[in-house]
Amino acid sequence: MGAGNNIAVMASGKGSNLQVILEAIQTGTCPVHVRLVISDRAEAGALDIARHAGVPDVLHLNPKDHADRTAFDTACGDAIEAAGCSWIVLAGYMRILSPAFVQRFAGRIINIHPSLLPAFAGADGVGDALDYGVRITGCTVHLVDEVLDGGPILAQAAVPVLDDDTRDSLHARIQAEEHRLYPATLKRMVECGFTIRGRRVIWKNT
Ligand code: GRF
Repeated sequence: MGAGNNIAVMASGKGSNLQVILEAIQTGTCPVHVRLVISDRAEAGALDIARHAGVPDVLHLNPKDHADRTAFDTACGDAIEAAGCSWIVLAGYMRILSPAFVQRFAGRIINIHPSLLPAFAGADGVGDALDYGVRITGCTVHLVDEVLDGGPILAQAAVPVLDDDTRDSLHARIQAEEHRLYPATLKRMVECGFTIRGRRVIWKNT
């Protein structure tokens, strides 16, 4: 597997998306190599998952140790480059990336968001969709640009909203789709590749 398949995962939370990516690698269904996991939170479950799976570099970087967001992101970016990663995969990373970081890794940062973008961008895509009353929501894998949750869309999956849904029950069904979609999209990304036409992602070799 070449260096082009090396990924860094950035995560702030429980890390279930990281977990399914690592499992898909183990079972041979996702041809990437997680070289580095970075979290901004020491208590993030993602750090334990990464250590347990034997990820070569597992880092907690504390934003409070850095002068500002740009300085913190520079430290993250330096670690990512030192680890030789071609792609940055955000998996529940709860900090907004500085423009300098997005430019440094332009076109190589991927995020998963729990709504059908462009609807319900922002911190609570699940609760906002439920409160709005949509009957169908879902998840989106997209490239990261300077606009929050605004980059070109790589893949989406739909999830119906049920009458008795709570935020938790809806998020659980969205996460089940995320866990299918994220490893599958990473596989397609490194195996097929894509070009961008306007806002559209055009997959190659499919
Ligand atoms: C996911 O729902 C993802 O869409 C959002 O944050 C959540 C992360 O979940 N960006 P986990 O930490 O991977 O379980």
